[in-house]
Amino acid sequence: MSEQINSTAGPLVNIRGLTKTYQEGDRQRVVFCELDASVEREEIIVLLGRSGSGKSTLLNLISGIDLPTAGSVTVDDVVLSALSETERTLFRRRNIGFVFQFFNLIHTLTVEENLLLPLELNGALDETGHAFARELLLAVSLADRAQSYPDRLSGGEQQRVAIARALVHKPLLLLADEPTGNLDRDTGQQTLKLLQRLTRDARATLIMASHSTEAAGLADRVFNIERDRLIRLPGLERRGA
Ligand SMILES: Nc1ncnc2c1ncn2[C@@H]1O[C@H](COP(=O)(O)OP(=O)(O)OP(=O)(O)O)[C@@H](O)[C@H]1O
Ligand SMILES: [Mg+2]
Repeated sequence: MSEQINSTAGPLVNIRGLTKTYQEGDRQRVVFCELDASVEREEIIVLLGRSGSGKSTLLNLISGIDLPTAGSVTVDDVVLSALSETERTLFRRRNIGFVFQFFNLIHTLTVEENLLLPLELNGALDETGHAFARELLLAVSLADRAQSYPDRLSGGEQQRVAIARALVHKPLLLLADEPTGNLDRDTGQQTLKLLQRLTRDARATLIMASHSTEAAGLADRVFNIERDRLIRLPGLERRGA
């Protein structure tokens, strides 16, 4: 396992006074106002909230794809807004994995090539990386599809490739934006369980935006985004070990 994991003791993600507003003409749209939150290492967090409540915006701020209007996001003791755009991109590539609603696989690359891409971008495509990618393909039950192109796979299979790709560089943090939004209910359930299991195996931290209370049932903590606040919903959280 990578020495990055548990490199320091504090929370993995620290959100302080986070404010995000969008200017639309002469109107200001406030998505978040002075939000405080933290996420412990190896936690699984689910963000619920109606459409437009700010789930994707929050994930984009945590990944440093987007910057806050005020306040800060710290990931593994690095203040994202203190980094240049290039530094943020490198930080993201090294430390964060993403799973999206529409899978976002590259259709001109095979399953295996898609999987190896994060390692290649990090300049870390060595024999160990190849071996880990094969291990992950096996873990998502797609070892026999390594040479297939994504458009030959079902939605559920594509999402399993995307989950493996999100983990191949051993990120500290996994961000998933409605990962089952485009799957039928049973496939969605299986995909969520797989995502949970692989996150635990990797000792990674997962923050997942979802509309599904089934996703919430796998989480250590569940928050609803309501009128620019995070409200915890303990009743929906995972019970026991
Ligand atoms: N670039 C932008 N300019 C103006 N407003 C924006 C922009 N991006 C997002 N918003 C607004 O911010 C709010 C939060 O959007 P966001 O996409 O985070 O919601 P969401 O909770 O992910 O919704 P969904 O469940 O539909 O994916 C919405 O009101 C949206 O219209
Ligand atoms: Mg969204």
